[in-house]
Amino acid sequence: MHSAEQFIAQVERVSARNYAPLPVVLARGAGSWVWDTEGRRYLDCLSAYSSLSLGHCHPRIVAALTEQAQRLTLTSRAFHNDRMGAFLELLCELCGLDMALPMNTGAEAVETAIKLARKWGYEVKRVPKDTAEIVVCRNNFHGRTTTIVGFSSEPAYRDPFGPYGPGFTLVDFGDAAALEAAVTPNTVAFLVEPIQAEAGIMQPPDGYLAAARTICQRHDMLFMLDEIQTGLARTGRFLAHQHEADAAPDVLIVGKALGGGVYPVSAVLANKDVLGLINPSEHGSTFGGNPLAAAVGQAALETLRDEHLSERAAELGEQLLAGLRGLDCAAINEVRGRGLLVGIELHADGPSARTYCERLLALGVLTKDTHGRVIRLAPPLIIQAEEIEWLLERVAMALAD
Ligand SMILES: Cc1ncc(COP(=O)(O)O)c(C=O)c1O
Repeated sequence: MHSAEQFIAQVERVSARNYAPLPVVLARGAGSWVWDTEGRRYLDCLSAYSSLSLGHCHPRIVAALTEQAQRLTLTSRAFHNDRMGAFLELLCELCGLDMALPMNTGAEAVETAIKLARKWGYEVKRVPKDTAEIVVCRNNFHGRTTTIVGFSSEPAYRDPFGPYGPGFTLVDFGDAAALEAAVTPNTVAFLVEPIQAEAGIMQPPDGYLAAARTICQRHDMLFMLDEIQTGLARTGRFLAHQHEADAAPDVLIVGKALGGGVYPVSAVLANKDVLGLINPSEHGSTFGGNPLAAAVGQAALETLRDEHLSERAAELGEQLLAGLRGLDCAAINEVRGRGLLVGIELHADGPSARTYCERLLALGVLTKDTHGRVIRLAPPLIIQAEEIEWLLERVAMALAD
């Protein structure tokens, strides 16, 4: 048996250091809890960046995974399989759009949406070939491919991986007038997160998404929402845009929790007039839409629906936000969030958020800082009210003094 130090040394020897993990080696998970190699227990308040909304090893997901794994796992899209249709039908029904294109990771789904917007721009809006522009927001996070980091405003994601292609215009998040000012005759889409989670759980002003949608309609461009982190019940609605009336997107991107915490599953959804433009050979993925992914994705959606996890996230999110706002901690500058997607922003002159995440780790809480000054809390949506109280006590202890 290896010690935690040995596991970490082994990884540091053979793996690229593209992450700086907290010094804990996890070996087991159940529900909202995980255990390290020495048997210590932690409340998982990161949930793999909102992917574990159903918690670890949810019995319904594990059953769907193992049953399908014994029957048929992978066909490629060279053939049909008997699972993909039912999965996408349910996804479309729950998201209120006609069609879906299944992918695996979030970044792949964002890339898919970008290709879709450009094709729509050339074939429907009739923008001249190779001139399509997409408006995006400063401090966005849409993934790590070269196209996506090319329109990031964050040097840590972007440098030194250029050169980058043209076709993206940055505007301030939350500023509808800036969006409208950035539109040109060649603009085909606006791509935005309903809440900028990686940027530090940044919420736009009320009415921003509906205003953005209206601007998109006025200028004949697609309104594209990246709900990879905010979607699927996380913020207390099935989709975060549903907190606003009239903010439904033309193109919706989902991922993370769609894989039930066990498998990478993502998708792009749109109505037939947009997604119907894609023809054979224009886009694909060897693993996208495979029967194992479809079985898991369908089980994840059914579980989110049957366990009323949107309502639960809304209720428990209120409890968490109220509890955090009631803490008497000099270190806290602001507590913000929606549902169970919460950020604690610290004062600029105090210890870093990483320092507090290390303290929380020692107290049995797993979480991760974002952008140096924000502690993110995104526990599984199946967390219990008593566990939220337990978490609040730990946060108070970690942030004391
Ligand atoms: C809003 C958003 N978009 C896209 C991604 C990229 O997803 P993936 O890491 O699965 O490629 C993330 C991941 O954190 C995300 O939060």
